[in-house]
Amino acid sequence: MPKHVAIIMDGNGRWAKAKGMMRIKGHQAGAGTVKKIVKTAREMGISVLTLYAFSTENWKRPASEVSGLMSLLKSYLKSELESMLGNDIQLRCIGQQENLPKEVLSVLRKSIEETASNSGMILNLALSYGGRDEILRAARKMAQLCVEGKLQPKQITEDILASRLYTAGLPDPDLLIRTGGESRLSNFLLWQVSYSEIYFTNIKWPDFSKDDFFTAIRYFQKRQRRFGQTGEQVVVTN
Ligand code: IPE
Ligand code: IPE
Ligand code: MG
Repeated sequence: MPKHVAIIMDGNGRWAKAKGMMRIKGHQAGAGTVKKIVKTAREMGISVLTLYAFSTENWKRPASEVSGLMSLLKSYLKSELESMLGNDIQLRCIGQQENLPKEVLSVLRKSIEETASNSGMILNLALSYGGRDEILRAARKMAQLCVEGKLQPKQITEDILASRLYTAGLPDPDLLIRTGGESRLSNFLLWQVSYSEIYFTNIKWPDFSKDDFFTAIRYFQKRQRRFGQTGEQVVVTN
């Protein structure tokens, strides 16, 4: 079983368009898929589920879509708090929290606080998240510490850099799923996915079912993870 599953939830807009509906209807349907997949992941014993909900680039969408997404996010957080508490789910968030609207931020902070001691699964929402922005912030912070004499450039290791990322303390994703038919990362977890198994599917996020999730997990389970070694070495050491 993968410990950490990350998902690029894509295809909401095209799903709605294909049905002759407004894009926001696709996002609403997508929120239903989020609830279902969070529940399934928890039941399966996955430790960390990271969901890409809004990228740093998504701010460039029409203002009406951005505000629709933000209010959907707010109502999702409000309606799901009880279920997170009941299912021992700890909410976390990665990304530029300071860029989120105040009313989203306050429900987000409340949910994070109230679920902080839960330990069944971490639900990690990527909100106003960009992989380059994350690495850039870490680099800036380390440069600042160097200027202040608190860090030497030669002390900067992969672990030190990783500890400055939003995902500090979390394992790297074992499996990355992208729905919606595109085969790209779209600025998601650039540092962390260096050795993730990647599963692309044409299924659009609102249609992504529990069975589709199982299919992705089975795909992961059939992979031989070599991390640069030969197949023979991996078989011997495992
Ligand atoms: C993913 O669906 C959700 C967000 C990026 C917020 P899209 O809105 O990107 O859907 P498509 O790709 O246009 O179909
Ligand atoms: C990636 O989807 C971001 C999220 C799923 C939140 P996009 O729809 O924004 O990606 P691009 O623009 O097609 O690469
Ligand atoms: Mg998209």
